[in-house]
Amino acid sequence: MSSKTPYKVLCVCLGNICRSPTAEVVLRHFCDKQQLNTIIDSAGTSNYHPGKAPDARSQKHALQRGYDLSSLRARQLKLHDFIEFDLILAMDHENLSDIETLLAQAHSEYGISQIRAKIALMSEYDQTYPKQALPDPYYGGADGFERVLDQCESSSLAWVGIFKQQFKQQIDVK
Ligand code: 4NP
Repeated sequence: MSSKTPYKVLCVCLGNICRSPTAEVVLRHFCDKQQLNTIIDSAGTSNYHPGKAPDARSQKHALQRGYDLSSLRARQLKLHDFIEFDLILAMDHENLSDIETLLAQAHSEYGISQIRAKIALMSEYDQTYPKQALPDPYYGGADGFERVLDQCESSSLAWVGIFKQQFKQQIDVK
């Protein structure tokens, strides 16, 4: 990353209508607050809800904390994302495994040298939810959507700490 090139992060869950859109908006909020030069997006490993807005319950709970998810639209993770993005964040371990399978396909399709993306769990550096899955709230109640927000805020703050170190090192070696 140069100081002019944004660092691109893709948040990925199963449906791209509950967890990853929430992660996208929360992570963007904390990165913007620290004026980090980032672009944040989200996608799903499935194609269950292409073009759909985030789940109404995710939107409602997020808005109660000031996060507006209404303009987002679901899309499926694609092989080209491994070339476009610097970091792909999996919301749970099954997502991580599915992303790794696609990464192997991207290697064959484009060649290893073309692949930019590193892959990690959303909770990778989170001290409160260390390497824990972001539980899928889709079939549950209101507390599940609150948990998604709590965990996205906590994990996003941890990532912002990592990005600040990473970007500072890149500036220092120039
Ligand atoms: P997400 O939640 O992966 O957090 O977007 C889900 C949304 C939809 C389904 C499953 C999980 N579904 O089975 O349709």
